[in-house]
Amino acid sequence: MSSGTFDNLRYERRGAGAWITIDRPAKLNALDRATVAEIVAAAAHALADPAVAVLVLTGAGKAFVAGADIGAMSALTPREAQEFSRFLQASLDTLERSPKPVVAAVNGFALGGGCELALACHLRLAADRASFAQPEVNLGLIPGAGGTQRLQRLVGRGRALGLILTGAAIDAAEACRIGLVHAVHPADALVPATLELVETLAAKSPIALARALEATLAGGELPLDQGLRFEAGLFGLCFATEDMREGTRAFLEKRTPRFTGR
Ligand code: CAA
Repeated sequence: MSSGTFDNLRYERRGAGAWITIDRPAKLNALDRATVAEIVAAAAHALADPAVAVLVLTGAGKAFVAGADIGAMSALTPREAQEFSRFLQASLDTLERSPKPVVAAVNGFALGGGCELALACHLRLAADRASFAQPEVNLGLIPGAGGTQRLQRLVGRGRALGLILTGAAIDAAEACRIGLVHAVHPADALVPATLELVETLAAKSPIALARALEATLAGGELPLDQGLRFEAGLFGLCFATEDMREGTRAFLEKRTPRFTGR
C-alpha cells in the first residue's frame, strides 16, 4: 500500500516493521475520526501482510499525538461523545489485541488520546523530548480512549490518579521511571533504537509472540486461577508448533533458531 492511500498518516515498510506515522503536523497529529479510522485500516493492512512482524506507531514533527482533536470534539452532543469514546476505545482495542507486537515510538507530545494510544501499544520507546499527560480535566473532560483503565493497570492506581486528576505533564525520564515507557533515547536515536527492537522481535517465533501477548493481556484480566489455566492451555498449544521444535532443538544443538511461524 502506498503512503498516498492515506490522508492523515504515512504507511511504510522498513525491514520486518510496518511504520504507521501519524502526519497532521498542523494539528500536532490530533486524532479526529478520520485519522483514527486510518490507523485501524493501516494496522489491518499490516496484520494481513505475512512479511510484517511488528507494527510501529509514531508521529510526524514535534508531536506523537497531542490528543483527540479538540475542535472536532467540542461540538458533540453527550450521546455523540459517548459514541466517539466507544469508537476510540474499540479502535485502540484492535491495536492491543494485535497478534503481532505493536511498538509506540513516542517522538514528542503524547497527551490525552495520544498518551492513550501509546498505552494501547505493547511496547513504548520514547525520545528524551517526549512528554506525557492526561490533561482532559483542563478541558472539563475525563480521558475517553481507555486512559482511566489502561494507565492504572500499567503504572498503578495512585500514579494514574496523580496524572489524571492534575492533568500535569511528565517528561520521558519520569515516564520511564514509573514504567509508562520502556526506554528513553536521544531524539535522533529513537528511530535506530526502534528499528533494532523491530529486528529483535522479528527474530522470535511469531506464534510464541502472539501467544505471549494473549496470555499476558487477555489472561491478565482473569482471576489468577483462571489466568494460570489460560496460560497453561496456551503453553500446551506451543508444543504443537514447528517453531517450538526448532527453538528447543536449536538450543540443544547450540545454534541460532530459524523460526518459520508454523
Ligand atoms: N486538538 C486540536 N488541535 C490541536 C490539539 C488538539 N488536541 N493540540 C494542538 N492543536 C493545534 C493547536 O490548536 C494549534 O493550531 P493553530 O496553529 O491552528 O492554532 C496547533 O495544533 C499547534 O499547537 P500550539 O500552537 O498549541 O503548539 P504549542 O507548541 O504552543 O503547544 C501543546 C503544544 C502543549 C501540545 C498544546 O497544543 C496543547 O496543549 N494541546 C492540547 C493538548 C490536550 O489538551 N490534549 C487532550 C485532548 S482531549 C482528549 O484527548 C480526550 C480523550 O481522551 C479522547
